[in-house]
Amino acid sequence: MPAELQGSGDKPGGDCHIWRQFYLYADNIAAEKSCYEESVMDLPKIKWGIVGCGNIAGKFTRDIALTDDAEISAVASRAVKKAQAFAEKHNAGNAYGTYAELFRDTDVDIVYIATPHVSHAELSIQAMEHGKHVLCEKPLSLNAKEASAIIETSRRTRRFFMEALWTRFNPAIIAIKKRIDNGEIGEVKFINADFSFKVPGDLDSRVIALELGGGAILDIGIYPAFLSYLILGFPEEIVAKSLFHTLTKCDMQTSMIFTYESAHALLYSGLESGSDMVARISGAEGQIYIHKTWHSPEGYTLVQGETEQVFDLPVKGNGFTCEIEECHKCLRASRIESALWSHKNSLELISILDVARDQVGLVYPQEQ
Ligand SMILES: NC(=O)c1ccc[n+]([C@@H]2O[C@H](COP(=O)([O-])OP(=O)(O)OC[C@H]3O[C@@H](n4cnc5c(N)ncnc54)[C@H](OP(=O)(O)O)[C@@H]3O)[C@@H](O)[C@H]2O)c1
Repeated sequence: MPAELQGSGDKPGGDCHIWRQFYLYADNIAAEKSCYEESVMDLPKIKWGIVGCGNIAGKFTRDIALTDDAEISAVASRAVKKAQAFAEKHNAGNAYGTYAELFRDTDVDIVYIATPHVSHAELSIQAMEHGKHVLCEKPLSLNAKEASAIIETSRRTRRFFMEALWTRFNPAIIAIKKRIDNGEIGEVKFINADFSFKVPGDLDSRVIALELGGGAILDIGIYPAFLSYLILGFPEEIVAKSLFHTLTKCDMQTSMIFTYESAHALLYSGLESGSDMVARISGAEGQIYIHKTWHSPEGYTLVQGETEQVFDLPVKGNGFTCEIEECHKCLRASRIESALWSHKNSLELISILDVARDQVGLVYPQEQ
């Protein structure tokens, strides 16, 4: 049994058992680190394919151009004109009017999936079945069941798969994790993180469309849940409360309390108001404040007794280069998963969100 669950009895998380079968499954898959035979080790440039030409795809693609050893080989949109305009803007080789055409392009090594959450599992699986390695935007799927299918496909096809949880690769987050693991603030007792912004009133927005996986928990609640999971592991108990959109029925505000053996995390995600987006980690011997916006920070403050030290760690471009470089590193080592953000990590994080959604009664049409 994973360390985080030991001693927590038969019913971790209160009455919610949903994740448990996936949790055990995750242990099994983590035990077998698989590599694929052929390697992109010798290729001078890793060739990316971009799937879905929306908001985040544009920002991410600009950051690929900031890395030394990659190029944009192809882009795909549901509309060929949109793909062509995106390709021209980002200097991509090919532009396709369907995602399937890009998956068949033998020149593409790895695809970046930047479509709404509901299509992540299906497109990731399709891409791997066509021999592509995959970086898929967060959340990797709607739920743990879909995540398990993605991971199974990665193992079977020996294709690299990673959820684009970019915060994990941020230099400040890496430094903070190291300090906490080294005991520099003592035993962590409390984490407080939020992610909150006001969505435009537009009812067509992907962010509040239930049929696209909209709502606070999956879109942004994943970040505070990630921070708590990264620092304290899988919670022993999760309590969640939501307020819902009166028309679309997705969650507009969700608060979560994670309870650990000797720590609490208070986590909030909201789509109706802004926040300072500073995260606080409080230990028995000190505190860490992750500067705004904490999910893509450029520094942090460490407080130990009377001493306060500020560390500045600027990111390149839009903040995605470290995540991109991690993909390149894994591909060049013929790995099917990253050690920093593994299949098991993704599966456990989405399992946590499953429990939160179960508590607030948020079910997507695809799950009915
Ligand atoms: N890592 C981050 O910082 C970050 C930030 C924002 C979003 N995200 C994640 O990235 C994903 C995309 O978010 P986004 O903000 O880029 O969304 P977006 O601007 O709406 O773009 C999504 C794209 O997906 C494609 N698409 C395919 N099926 C669609 C459908 N049924 N409805 C609408 N679009 C569809 C469209 O591209 P084509 O028309 O070209 O096919 C669309 O432009 C989400 O899963 C989100 O969680 C991550």
